Amino acid sequence: MNIKKIQEGVFLSKKVLVRADFNVAIVDGKIQEHYKLEACKKSVDHLSGQQGAKVALMSHLGRPDGKVNLEFSLGQIKEELEKILNKKIVFIDECIGEKVAKSLEKLQEGEILLLENVRFHSEEEVNDAEFAKQLAENFDVFVNDAFSVCHRDQASVTGVTKFLPSFAGLWLQEEIKNLNKVIHEPLQPATAIIGGAKIETKLPLINKFEQTYAHILVGGKIANEAIDQKTEFSSKVILPMDFAIDRLDIGPKTIARFKDIIAVSKVVVWNGPMGKFEEKPYDCGTKEILDAIIESDAFTLIGGGESVQVLEENNLMDKVSFVSTGGGAMLEYLSGNHMPGIESLRVVE
Ligand code: 3PG
Repeated sequence: MNIKKIQEGVFLSKKVLVRADFNVAIVDGKIQEHYKLEACKKSVDHLSGQQGAKVALMSHLGRPDGKVNLEFSLGQIKEELEKILNKKIVFIDECIGEKVAKSLEKLQEGEILLLENVRFHSEEEVNDAEFAKQLAENFDVFVNDAFSVCHRDQASVTGVTKFLPSFAGLWLQEEIKNLNKVIHEPLQPATAIIGGAKIETKLPLINKFEQTYAHILVGGKIANEAIDQKTEFSSKVILPMDFAIDRLDIGPKTIARFKDIIAVSKVVVWNGPMGKFEEKPYDCGTKEILDAIIESDAFTLIGGGESVQVLEENNLMDKVSFVSTGGGAMLEYLSGNHMPGIESLRVVE
């Protein structure tokens, strides 16, 4: 699909609304997923480097149920974002209306405006057209740089594109490029490792990989679910042959088998932990598989909040060929499903 790219736009003196994904875990006031905040940096630099351009960042955080709830305020990420973007951030507690217009007017060169959580408005998630129009009306152009929300048909993702010329940001393009590498004719043998919870959300992906991949290694809670439900797969799908105590992690024989397969693979895609990794000793399977991925010479792609968390905690982000910010979005994209956020940027030929 041909989409409109930020490199093709001219943003001189334009007011630019950027959809980022700052939906990060915050524990005791500390931000856990810096990677997601970093993702928009290249686009922000690209835009703010154009004379007179005024850039505002919008995002959701959590699921505040369409109501103002300061537990989900984006004000909490201001300081961290300031460090990451290396720019002064002006935060305002609204994302529509006069307040946004006035703040844009006052915004100085080099400053970036951060808008409050779009999900404080119930109209966001139902993609209300009037709300999308209000989001758009203070701006000249829209840039979507949030791959991880492109599976959502919501006002700040697709709705605004009806009212503003819209472009794909640099990060969004990077995600599409790297995910396409592992979807279309991957180098063989290609291996997918799927873990985590909720078998019903992962089954379409496993089935999709069965069509083109040599091996699909299944661990985590979904492996237990598949075994208990006697789910049938082709011989490409390898379920654990042993588990750690209480079936909370994959066992040593499974780890050894999975590692052997990873070692000879040319492409490895990983989503979801192999066990209850946040609790020792059930982190063993996940760590061993991660080591095997890091050591392999394959093109390696990892995504999903928990998998990325393991990478960040172990300072291994740069040891993987590509780390996707997408959790649900990565699953949808790899499954070949409809991505409204990307489709709304399509060039009409
Ligand atoms: C994510 O963190 O995967 C995205 O921000 C989407 O969040 P949502 O599932 O709350 O829409």
